[in-house]
Parts: sequence; structure tokens; C-alpha cells
Amino acid sequence: MVSHILKDCGDNVINMLTDALDAGLSVLDKDLTIIWVNKTLPNMLNLHYNPVGRKCREVYACECQDSRHCSVLQALSTGKKTSNEIQLITESGVRKYIRNITTPVRDGGNNIAYLLKVSLDITQQEEKVRRISLLRKFAEVMQGMLQIDRLLHLALTCVTAGSALGFNRARLFLVDKEQNVIYGKMAVGPSSLEEANKIWSEIAHKNENLDDLIDASEKTRHYDTPLHKTTRLMAFSLTDEKEIIVSCVKTKKMILERNAFSNDQIDKKFVNAVGVNEFICVPLVVEGDAIGAICADNAYNRKPITEEQVELLSIFASRVALAFANAETYRKLWEKNQQLKETRERLIRSERLAVIGNMAAYIAHEIRNPLVTIGGFARILMREYADHKKVKQHTEIITEEVNRLEKILANIMDFSKPIETLKTSIQINELLENTCCLMGPYLKSAHIQVSKKFDPSIPKIIVDQTQMKQVFLNLIKNAAESMTQGGKLTVESMTEDEYIKIDFTDTGEGMTPEILQNLFTPFFTTKVDGTGVGLAVSQKIIDDHNGFIKIKSVPKEGTTFSISLPIKNVTA
Ligand SMILES: Nc1ncnc2c1ncn2[C@@H]1O[C@H](COP(=O)(O)OP(=O)(O)OP(=O)(O)O)[C@@H](O)[C@H]1O
Ligand SMILES: [Mg+2]
Repeated sequence: MVSHILKDCGDNVINMLTDALDAGLSVLDKDLTIIWVNKTLPNMLNLHYNPVGRKCREVYACECQDSRHCSVLQALSTGKKTSNEIQLITESGVRKYIRNITTPVRDGGNNIAYLLKVSLDITQQEEKVRRISLLRKFAEVMQGMLQIDRLLHLALTCVTAGSALGFNRARLFLVDKEQNVIYGKMAVGPSSLEEANKIWSEIAHKNENLDDLIDASEKTRHYDTPLHKTTRLMAFSLTDEKEIIVSCVKTKKMILERNAFSNDQIDKKFVNAVGVNEFICVPLVVEGDAIGAICADNAYNRKPITEEQVELLSIFASRVALAFANAETYRKLWEKNQQLKETRERLIRSERLAVIGNMAAYIAHEIRNPLVTIGGFARILMREYADHKKVKQHTEIITEEVNRLEKILANIMDFSKPIETLKTSIQINELLENTCCLMGPYLKSAHIQVSKKFDPSIPKIIVDQTQMKQVFLNLIKNAAESMTQGGKLTVESMTEDEYIKIDFTDTGEGMTPEILQNLFTPFFTTKVDGTGVGLAVSQKIIDDHNGFIKIKSVPKEGTTFSISLPIKNVTA
């Protein structure tokens, strides 16, 4: 049949020539059955059977119902040469990209008798184009990503994704200038060959796109994998310039090491930690400064790192560094903004407190004089009518109420007095012990059991002792007042990050969300004889010490007031 088409050539010569071609050739009849192929085609498609006699779509593993996407159907219907590109997974599970060009072959009556299909394997070019496009999209997404950990994890996911850079493992190291070290920040990749094989078999048929990889990164970001854990334990002094990772950030140059174990020019601490003979380290350079490096390898499939991987990784690393710089700038800006907000709130609070204080002082002053007069006259009446039962009873009530009002006035005057500050160094436990001791008899009479859990290792800090004692008194008094039937008060001190934290936990009535909302408003009180200044004053004092107060409260269960005071930054 073929010799009929090419009648001038002998079969053998034709076969020799067509088999030598880099393109797969096939001839189809009008029913789209393959009637001849050269040897290149089955090799190209990794076929384990003879395609002759089979339908075209079966051999090319494609759906060709829609003629718009099928070069063969198009050539048949238009009578013209047509081409298309297809993607297929071969029997051995390999993804291939094939360009098909189909030409109609006509008989003597100018009717289409056969179709000649030329297939070119464009997998390598196509994968490179896709990789570059995916990396470009990745870089764009990363530019807008402001959370540093998310960003870095996504970058490493991209380095290890088969559809992107395709390394087996990737580790990220960051420079800590203060400590003069470079340390392992995170790692992405399987932790064993078994795990690697499992992952590869799962994703063999998937062509992961940008969204798949972002999803995968988000899902696995918090996994504490063995690889991640061992990476986090790595740290190298920046003075050890013979360690590859150090030399990479010092010289700001990429290092491709193909024979690490037998390279006697280098120290082996890093190489032993990475545990492979071949790997690549690429610096992350921001404004001329190396902030860290990515180290990638093919530990499991042991494939040599390709030229393409080297080229793409160094381009990609520069984009990661840029995105990192963006996120870092944003983080600093956010922190500054937070600080500004806090300062503003403190200012507003102390301003408000000052205005209310002045007003309260004025009113208190105006009320005090008539109150003293009322009290005085009540006492005179009480003396003069000592034997008149009814008058005595009424004047006693007046005196009691006047006394109560005078107490409240004293409280208000106290609140509006400017606070003088004298800060000295002290171990907070001492002050707590002292305050608990002072309140001991009062708490005992209120049937409140006190549990003290003071951490003896907390460092000394600089505070105004009188003011701080005032805060502790206010909180203990509030706690006691919330436990009208008795209960338990736990006072606990501890170090938390850069703060000393003191918790006052009661088993009292707790607070509703409405009370919690108004807690620090001056003169807000839910008590019959409360003034509502205890917490407002306490907060002002804690503000002045650059600390903060947090509250946890459950109605009918109890409340915890937590005071945090900075260990550093408090000036005397
Ligand atoms: N530990 C607590 N448990 C339940 N409610 C509390 C607690 N601490 C404070 N509160 C609520 O917060 C309100 C305000 O407290 P704050 O100490 O400022 O004023 P007060 O105790 O009412 O009066 P003052 O302290 O001036 O005598 C209280 O009236 C109470 O409703
Ligand atoms: Mg109070």
C-alpha cells in the first residue's frame, strides 16, 4: 500500500529513511485506522504494542470527537494540511507533548485516499515554556504576599514542584547578623525515599498548576516534617567561610557542588548535615545584601542537577529575595503603625482621664463643703436629741450616708491628684507578697482562700512600687468583691517572652460582654458603693510602665486579669 504511494522507492530504503527521522510518521486510512508507522513513532509514544491496525485516537490516547482540536479530522474535512498539539500520558506514566501535522494524500481522481501524520516530540521545549510561565506567575503572586512565612514556604514548594523547578528537596537558610550566623528556617520535600515514591506516584498524572501549588503550600505549611525539623537545627557561624552555605552568602554567588564529599577545599559540617554529594546553594540578595540562601538537591531520584534547573533557580531566587524585601518592609510598616496606634490610644486615654479628673476634682470640692456642714449639723442634732428615739435614728442614717459620700469623695480626689512617679528596681514577687500580706485579714474574713504561684526566676524590673502596689490592691479588691460567697484567688507570676506576666484569677461572678466593654471607663461601676475608678487608674499606671492588661472572664465562673510589664525598655 505504501509502496503504491511512493512507487519510485523500494520498501527497504523507505523504511531506513523514515526510521532515521526524528519525527514519528503514520499513515491512516479514511476510517482513521493506522495502516503504517515508522519505527520512531512507537518509541516516541512508548508503545508496547504494534499500532498498525488500531484506531488513531486509541494510539494517541486522545479524545478526538471534537474536530476543532483534532488535526486528522480537520485535514479530512477541509482537505488541507493541519496541525495541533496534544498532551498525553504514555503507558509508562510519562507526560508527553506532541505536535501533529496531518496532510491529506489524494488519489488520481483528486480524492483523499490517505492521511499522512507527522508527530514531533516537543515535550522538552513545552515543559520549559510552561515552567517559565509558571515561575513568572509564582513570582507575581509572591510579590503581593506579605506574610513572610507563607511567602518562603510557597517559594520552597515551587522549587520542589515537578511542574516548576522539580528538585527533590529544598531548604531555606536566613542570616542573623546579630548572632553572626546563618540558620535553617524551613524545608520542603519528602523525608525518605519511600515518602518520595509515594508522593511521585500520587502526582504522576497531575500537571500541577499555580493554584494547586498554592493550595499544597497552605495545607502543608504547618507540618513539622522530619526534614523541616532537622533543617531548623542547622546553624553555621558566618566566620566558617569554608562551609558552602556560608561562602554562598558571603560571596553572594550561586554554588553548584557536584562532588561534595570528596571536595577537600571545603569544610564538611554543612555537607554532612545536608547528606548528599550533589546540591546547589543560591543566595537571596536584597539591595546588595545576602539575607539568606536556598539549598536544593535531588536526594531521592539522584538525577544530576540540570543546566535548566540551575538557570531557573537563580532567576527564581532573585524574585524570592525581592518579594521577601517587600514583605519585610510591610512588616516593619505594620509594626510602626501598631506602635503609633497604641501611643495614640494611650494619649487619648490619659487626656480623657485628665479632663474627667479635673471635672471630678471641681465637683468633689464643691460638694465637700456643704457635705461637711450637713454632717456637722446631723451630729449636733444627734447630740441634742439624744433621748428622742426617732430623731436619733434619722440623724444616724444622715451621718452614715454622709460618711459614705465622704469616702467616695476622698476616692475621687485621690484619682484626680497628679500621680508622682518614682521608679526603682524590684523583684515583682516581693511586691506581690507584700500586697497579699496586707490584704490577708480582709480576704480571710471574706472566706477567700489565696493561692500564690510565684516564679522565683523572674528578673528584677524597674517600676514605681507605690503605684504598682496600688494596681495590685485594686485588682485583689475587685476579685474579692466579685466573690461575695467566698472563693479562691490565685496570684501567679511568670516570664512570658519579653514580659513579666502577673495573673489574678478569681472564682467570682465573672463579667458580661457589656461590662467588659466599659471596664476601663472612669466612674463605670456595677457596685452600690463603688466609685468606678480602680481600673481606670490601674490602666493609666500600667500604660505609664509600657505594659498592658488582658482580661479573660466567664460569667458565673470567674475572671483573670493579666498584667504584662516589659523586662527591658522601662527607664527609671
Ligand atoms: N474581678 C472582677 N470580677 C467581676 N467584675 C469585675 C472584676 N473587676 C472589675 N469588675 C467590674 O468592673 C467594674 C469597674 O471596676 P473598678 O475597679 O474600676 O471600679 P469599682 O470596683 O466598681 O469601684 P472602685 O474600684 O472605684 O471602688 C466593677 O464595678 C465590676 O463590675
Ligand atoms: Mg474596684
